[in-house]
Amino acid sequence: MLSNLIAMSTQTAAPTAVDIKRVTTQALQNMKATGTPIAMLTAYDYTTARLLDRAGVDVLLVGDSASNVMAGHETTLPITLDQMIYHAQCVVRAVRRALVVVDLPFGSYQGNSKEALISAIRVMKEAGAHAVKLEGGAAVVPTIERILTAGIPVMGHLGLTPQSIYRFGTYKVRAREEEEAEQLKRDAVLLERAGCFGIVLEKIPASLAAEVTASIRIPTIGIGAGVHCDGQVLVTHDALGLTTDFNPRFVRRYAHLDAVITDAVQAYIQDVRDRSFPTDEESY
Ligand code: KIV
Repeated sequence: MLSNLIAMSTQTAAPTAVDIKRVTTQALQNMKATGTPIAMLTAYDYTTARLLDRAGVDVLLVGDSASNVMAGHETTLPITLDQMIYHAQCVVRAVRRALVVVDLPFGSYQGNSKEALISAIRVMKEAGAHAVKLEGGAAVVPTIERILTAGIPVMGHLGLTPQSIYRFGTYKVRAREEEEAEQLKRDAVLLERAGCFGIVLEKIPASLAAEVTASIRIPTIGIGAGVHCDGQVLVTHDALGLTTDFNPRFVRRYAHLDAVITDAVQAYIQDVRDRSFPTDEESY
């Protein structure tokens, strides 16, 4: 009888923190090894991070794209380390399962590797993040190695690296030319050797991303880099249709929340105007 009751209660019980298996950097390596694609999305706030984590996303990136989609800046350059830490704190509070990776913002790691280590330690200590991400190839290898000495996992980012937008001058596809493609392939190997647990490949030809993915043992996560990467990442606001004036071909809209929100807000305004909200049931 008692055993029946225990069996029943375990069948109906909601998953507890103990039941949920956290995604680790090692788990991502295993996903690559077993050919299981990794799903990564950006998050910058508690409520959205909670929804995304509960939906089962593997990695949540507190991207410096917060500079664009949360703060309305034209580029990712203005966001500060303090602001990134604030966003990361909100996300970490919400997450039970996903690996939380936080972008080191422009200016917080390029100066020298000691400064980078101090920034990475702040992100881990003050936000409770699980890993950091930074942009660049050979030039940032000493920085990656220094951060790793503190036991902080590092994700790389190659191809279109938005923190260098003023050097590129455009958001066009990178590494179409052979010289840049060869450099990117070398950089990917260097990042793997330096100890990165994964690399974001942004806006490069799918064939090049496939080659890079096959040449390294750590997972590649593509954004505008084709289907042969080990995983994909999108900016959540783009994927859910909250941003509407940004329409690159790599964005797939999984919802049109712009219309949902506009309709809902217009209905609310109407209800306020005609005094149909609140009703007696909605009043005290
Ligand atoms: O900041 C960000 O959202 C990113 C993704 C585009 C990978 O770095």
